[in-house]
Parts: sequence; structure tokens; C-alpha cells
Amino acid sequence: MQNSHIFNDSLPKHIAIIMDGNGRWAKSKGKPRVFGHKKGVSAVRKTISAAAKLNIQAVTLFAFSSENWRRPEDEVSLLMELFITVLSSEIKKLHKNNLRLRVIGDKSRFNDRLQKKITEAEKMTENNTGTVINVAANYGGKWDILQATKTLAGLVEQGELLADDITEEMIGRYVTMSDLPDVDLLIRTSGECRISNFMLWQMAYAEMYFTEEYWPEFNEDSLIKAITWFVNRERRFGCTGEQVKALMEAN
Ligand code: IPE
Ligand code: IPE
Ligand code: MG
Repeated sequence: MQNSHIFNDSLPKHIAIIMDGNGRWAKSKGKPRVFGHKKGVSAVRKTISAAAKLNIQAVTLFAFSSENWRRPEDEVSLLMELFITVLSSEIKKLHKNNLRLRVIGDKSRFNDRLQKKITEAEKMTENNTGTVINVAANYGGKWDILQATKTLAGLVEQGELLADDITEEMIGRYVTMSDLPDVDLLIRTSGECRISNFMLWQMAYAEMYFTEEYWPEFNEDSLIKAITWFVNRERRFGCTGEQVKALMEAN
């Protein structure tokens, strides 16, 4: 497509998604919440495939927040099981497509089996050069800043750094995903308009897109719509959803 390099430049580099509304979607169908979480996995697949086709540098998906442990025990354990199953069944496909998978968050609270699966999956895909898929699990934006703070405090304690010399750039280096560009587009589904302790540091300048769609309904067209909104809002010239779609198909 003519001008496709111009489009490429105006696409978001790092998209973060709060995948919300699984429970309400299931309820609207008269099904248990778990049904919504399972259906949500296919929305994840569609989103990753569309983002990869558009050569988006990074996609960060909020899968489980540090506050989600407060949910009923059987829902939490089902989510953990689902996480293990999906990791096992999808990782080869991600690898084949040159995608890189990482899990961000406090992994120490996960059981050994899950921690092992995560390490294996990260290792398998670590040298891939395509889209980076970060799955945020037991993640909290405040936790992220806290762990960076602890690292820096450690350096001060060891006499390697003066507290007064700490800069924003240094904090930015120790929060997660410091090797990636900051988030430029945040998407949240299900009509809620809050951050729910997702990335705080890395979203300081993100454009925020809220859609009424429940996460299990989200698909390639939903992503195109969000990206089109972003390009038209933020950047140098307007474009249509058809143009973004054509770019996706051309890649
Ligand atoms: C998002 O859907 C998935 C997780 C938080 C794991 P919810 O489970 O929050 O669904 P609602 O918000 O209750 O509808
Ligand atoms: C945020 O959704 C976390 C994830 C999508 C994993 P929640 O549904 O847990 O957020 P709140 O509780 O409504 O703010
Ligand atoms: Mg929710």
C-alpha cells in the first residue's frame, strides 16, 4: 500500500489492555463467570494475531491483578489452571510466529508448576524478534514502582548511589519493561473507566480508550477501531479503519 510507512509510524508502539468484563459477559448469557474467562482466551488469540500483523512492538495484557486474589477461592484457582493450560497449549504457536512472551508481576506467589511453565515459555521465545507479548499476572502498578524503589534503596545502602542523585530516568530503568517504549495506547473493555492499579509509571502519557464491549467479544475489528481512534486523535493526519485494515492485510 502506498504511504504504508507513514501509517506504520503513526501506529502505537506499545498497547496495554485491561481485559475486563468476562464475568458480566458470562452472566448475560446465563452462564457461570468461568465460562467468560474461557471465552476470553479466544479474544486474547485474536488480539495478539492482529497486533502481530500490524507489527506492533509490544502488547501488555492485564490478566490478573495483585488485588484479584480477593476473589472467591475457586475462581482464583480456576484462573491459575487456565493460565497453565493456555501457556502450554499456545506457547509453540507463539514461538512459531516469532513472538516473544514475557510474564510481568510478582511471580513468587504462584505455585511451582506455574512458575516453571512461565520460565520455560519465556526461555523458549526470548530470542524472537516479533511483537513482545507481556502478560501481567499478579501485577500491580504500585508493586512495580515499589520493587524499583527497593532496588535503588539497595544501591544506596551499599554506598553505590546517593539518595539525592536518584533521577526519574533511574526509576524508569528499574520498573518492568524498561527496554520497551512507554505505553502509548491503553484499552479497557466493559465500560469501566479506571486504571485499577495497572501500569502507572509507564502510562504517564498514554491515550486512554474505553469501550463498552465485554472482553470475550473483543476481536480484530475491535482492535482496528481502537487503533484508528488513536491515530486520528494523536497524530499528524487522519485515516480510516479501512486503511488500518488494509495495512494489516498487507503485512
Ligand atoms: C476480567 O473480567 C478478567 C479478570 C479480572 C481475571 P472480570 O472477571 O473482571 O469480569 P467482570 O468485570 O466481573 O465482568
Ligand atoms: C482489572 O480488572 C484487572 C484485570 C483485568 C486482570 P478488575 O475487574 O479486577 O478491576 P476492578 O476490580 O473492577 O477495578
Ligand atoms: Mg472486572
